[in-house]
Amino acid sequence: MFAMPPKAGTMSQPSLPRLGFIGAGRLARCLALGFARAGYPVTAIASRTPESAQRLAGQIAHCTACNSPQQVADAADIVFLTVPDDSIGSTANTLRFNGSADSTGRLRALVHCSGASPVELLAPAREQGVLAGGFHPLYLFSGELADMERIRGCSITIEADGALKEVLTALAKALDCHPLSIPAGGRMLYHGAAHYAASFALCSLAECVALWRTLGFAEDDALRALLPMLAGTIQTARDKGLPDALAGPVSRGDTGVVRKQLALLEELGGDHAALYGLMTRRAVELARRRATPPTTLDAISDAVEESLSRALNQASAGTSVK
Ligand SMILES: NC(=O)c1ccc[n+]([C@@H]2O[C@H](COP(=O)([O-])OP(=O)(O)OC[C@H]3O[C@@H](n4cnc5c(N)ncnc54)[C@H](OP(=O)(O)O)[C@@H]3O)[C@@H](O)[C@H]2O)c1
Repeated sequence: MFAMPPKAGTMSQPSLPRLGFIGAGRLARCLALGFARAGYPVTAIASRTPESAQRLAGQIAHCTACNSPQQVADAADIVFLTVPDDSIGSTANTLRFNGSADSTGRLRALVHCSGASPVELLAPAREQGVLAGGFHPLYLFSGELADMERIRGCSITIEADGALKEVLTALAKALDCHPLSIPAGGRMLYHGAAHYAASFALCSLAECVALWRTLGFAEDDALRALLPMLAGTIQTARDKGLPDALAGPVSRGDTGVVRKQLALLEELGGDHAALYGLMTRRAVELARRRATPPTTLDAISDAVEESLSRALNQASAGTSVK
């Protein structure tokens, strides 16, 4: 929960679009306060629970806590729909926009912040002459005030056309984030793939913890050992790029080590060898992108494919060591 900071947005500029939020949760807290701090007028906030809206609006100068989503649509030029994904479509459906961009001369838009949901969910607004867009921060919001600092340097993926794209790009930059464009219809693949840098990185750690548990390692000890190694790997990727940051047997061309590890994991049963094999396939692809790839990559690849043809058949849930 946020500690109460001094009110944000006391110096907002009237020429900028008025921003409103429907849904005062983790993401909205960071965005609303961040935009206000950057000088944008954040004028209206509603939420399912009135206290949530009041708490957030109370931290922003000249911002009203509204009783209904419709009041936000009436009081803002750009409305951020920051409700859970399952409520985006139904909430968008209830909103009535009086005065389109064409009739008022002001840009009017409805924007959601979900990575996986299509912008088409906002079609009811589009049909009323209002622009629709997606604004997805690649950041895991905690709901704490620290988010406002930590989001700096992150990317925000924008799906919008023309004038709205320009405005959303400026808003991303106001948070010190990098705008990233996504073509219409690409959100589901984009969001699914992004799991590899977030939840699936955690799943990789969980796989190591599970395997180490067979050696008697406690989870706390394992994480204390693994997290600094992961942090170092991320830093090396930043410094050198993915192919040159790759470490481990594939990077050295150690076919024998890969073969022995695959055999050991096949013996353990479950899907351990299959997971290791599929990840090693990716490691081989990365190693091939090096200026001087190891000469044994084809042999490693053969070992992986042989193991995968066995392991993918035997992989079944419930028989792993987890
Ligand atoms: N959290 C993240 O890390 C993250 C990252 C990127 C994108 N997003 C996206 O951001 C959006 C919001 O996610 P979040 O994590 O901020 O969710 P959250 O913390 O659960 O907050 C959602 C807020 O919306 C309010 N709400 C729920 N249903 C509502 C309704 N029908 N009408 C009005 N308000 C309603 C909630 O209720 P109360 O009023 O009861 O508090 C809460 O304040 C989602 O589309 C999500 O995919 C989230």
